[in-house]
Amino acid sequence: MRRLVAGTGWKMNNGIADSIRYAEELKARIASLDTSAIDIYVLPPFTSLAAAAQALAGSPVAVGGQNMHWEDAGSWTGEISAPMLLEAGCRYVELAHSERLRHFGETYELVRRKVDKAMSAGLTPIVCLGESAREKAEGRAGQVLAEQVLTSLGGQPDERVPEIILAYEPRWAIGAAEAASPAYIGERHRALRAVLRQRCGAGIAERTRIIYGGSVTPENARAILDIEDVDGLFVGRAAWRAEGFARIVERVADAAKMKTEDK
Ligand code: 13P
Repeated sequence: MRRLVAGTGWKMNNGIADSIRYAEELKARIASLDTSAIDIYVLPPFTSLAAAAQALAGSPVAVGGQNMHWEDAGSWTGEISAPMLLEAGCRYVELAHSERLRHFGETYELVRRKVDKAMSAGLTPIVCLGESAREKAEGRAGQVLAEQVLTSLGGQPDERVPEIILAYEPRWAIGAAEAASPAYIGERHRALRAVLRQRCGAGIAERTRIIYGGSVTPENARAILDIEDVDGLFVGRAAWRAEGFARIVERVADAAKMKTEDK
């Protein structure tokens, strides 16, 4: 069975002091929940990583970076490497967020190099995948997503694929008024799992987590978690305050409990 995931990317929010406040409040709010069956992460901005990791040490909440370079060190002004993330206390690294692709010219070829580095360094990559509104309108979502996932995973042997978290985040649903519909999310997740099955075989595809992101809220979380191939939630705005993320964590922990009882 796949462990469900509750994650949030803070984007360019929460400096050091706010991150520590957030961490303390989150720990207090989730202390009474049984989170043993789920994985939880927050992705602070780089300057807050060490402080957040320290504040969350010993809690069920892990920390990750929002981006990373594919080299360990060198003349790469403004970049951050895998060893630096590890030293700051990170367990995860987010790659290919649509805001990185759109505003900073990242490509899936570069993402593939970053995935390879993260995997060799011992960081868990969270690889974002998503079609644009136009690609969706042209009926190309399935093809675009297949290309993105196959390119990103291109350097990895099949048996390591389940160590990677895939995040389906339709670009048109990020920062939007509403999430994608459950029916549409279900269709896309099913298709992504079929791509994994084709590339890596049924066993690997069954073990690989595909989480959903894009205008998730505590209110719509349950309906999205009910979708068969959805293995967790990746939240932006609704989790920028600890109270909001704690509510999401509670929904994911409840969903994990229900899935266990169903088995
Ligand atoms: P919103 O939840 O604000 O739409 O952002 C989602 C996101 O970008 C998660 O990576």
